[in-house]
Amino acid sequence: MKSILITGCNGLLGQTLLRLLSNADKDYNIIGVSRGKNRTGRVDFIYENVDITDKVSLIKVVEKHKPDVIINTAAMTNVDVCEDEKEGCFEINVNAVKYLVNLCKQYDSYFIHISTDFIFDGKKGYYSEEDKPNPLSYYGWSKLQAEKIIVESGIKSAILRTILVYGKVHNMARNNIVLWIKDRLENQQEITVVDDQYRMPTYVEDLANACLICIDQKVNGIYNVSSNQLLSIYEIAKTIASVFNLDDSLIKPISTQELGQKAKRPPKTGFDLSRTSKVLQIEPYTFEEDLRRFKQFLT
Ligand SMILES: NC(=O)c1ccc[n+]([C@@H]2O[C@H](COP(=O)([O-])OP(=O)(O)OC[C@H]3O[C@@H](n4cnc5c(N)ncnc54)[C@H](OP(=O)(O)O)[C@@H]3O)[C@@H](O)[C@H]2O)c1
Repeated sequence: MKSILITGCNGLLGQTLLRLLSNADKDYNIIGVSRGKNRTGRVDFIYENVDITDKVSLIKVVEKHKPDVIINTAAMTNVDVCEDEKEGCFEINVNAVKYLVNLCKQYDSYFIHISTDFIFDGKKGYYSEEDKPNPLSYYGWSKLQAEKIIVESGIKSAILRTILVYGKVHNMARNNIVLWIKDRLENQQEITVVDDQYRMPTYVEDLANACLICIDQKVNGIYNVSSNQLLSIYEIAKTIASVFNLDDSLIKPISTQELGQKAKRPPKTGFDLSRTSKVLQIEPYTFEEDLRRFKQFLT
């Protein structure tokens, strides 16, 4: 039986992976690694309380389970916090990846790592896997460093780049764009969202499914995973209101400059998904289609 170690298993992608793997046709031996208590509400896997920036503990846990596959979902993901806490960000987003890569080498494990559209400057949009990165934020820079470590190591690995991930799991520690907008509109609260940043949001089920395909096919290289329509955050908010039948007059547009967030954001990202369609055989959905699937999941 294949054993799969998931870092950050308490998180959005981590918990979604636990669910999809335990419902899969194949049997997997699943080891979930996260900080503190098991917050997943599940007991059908081995939980290990390990901070992956603690090299000694990380080595021990990998040595103990000798996983066939390591999926690294753990990261410092708040872009503004990364700007303020650069050392902590570097520890988790770069150094911990270095430790994991070395362990993959040692135990011949296949590595799946999650990266981001924030490695780009957002001038061009529709980025392919071959386009030249130029991060604007410390978060983006840290994720790019991790990619370089993985690629240069030569280990068997897939790097899945993704954009604005949303979904719902047990005991969520962090909010995401869809739940935030939906909750605010449901409570008749006005929201202000930028109309000059463009993204292709990603339903977490699709990202987790791409990880499962990688586990099966053991593909090597970088792959883009997202929905297939480039929308402004304002348009994203309007689509959420429409799918969940909420009052869209509560959505007010604002410019990035007026909003004045701490870390710089790329104005226009979005992916060229042709490699992913061809190699992983994934046909992406529109944002609206994904939202309807998410709505069904919530009921
Ligand atoms: N969310 C997005 O919009 C987005 C967009 C592009 C790329 N990505 C990438 O996708 C991946 C998964 O994101 P996500 O949305 O699932 O993030 P998430 O919900 O924040 O989950 C990350 C998990 O990692 C855990 N973690 C953080 N530091 C750790 C450490 N030192 N040791 C052990 N566990 C640690 C967190 O634990 P605590 O809960 O205890 O803090 C959390 O459970 C990340 O690599 C992220 O960079 C995300």
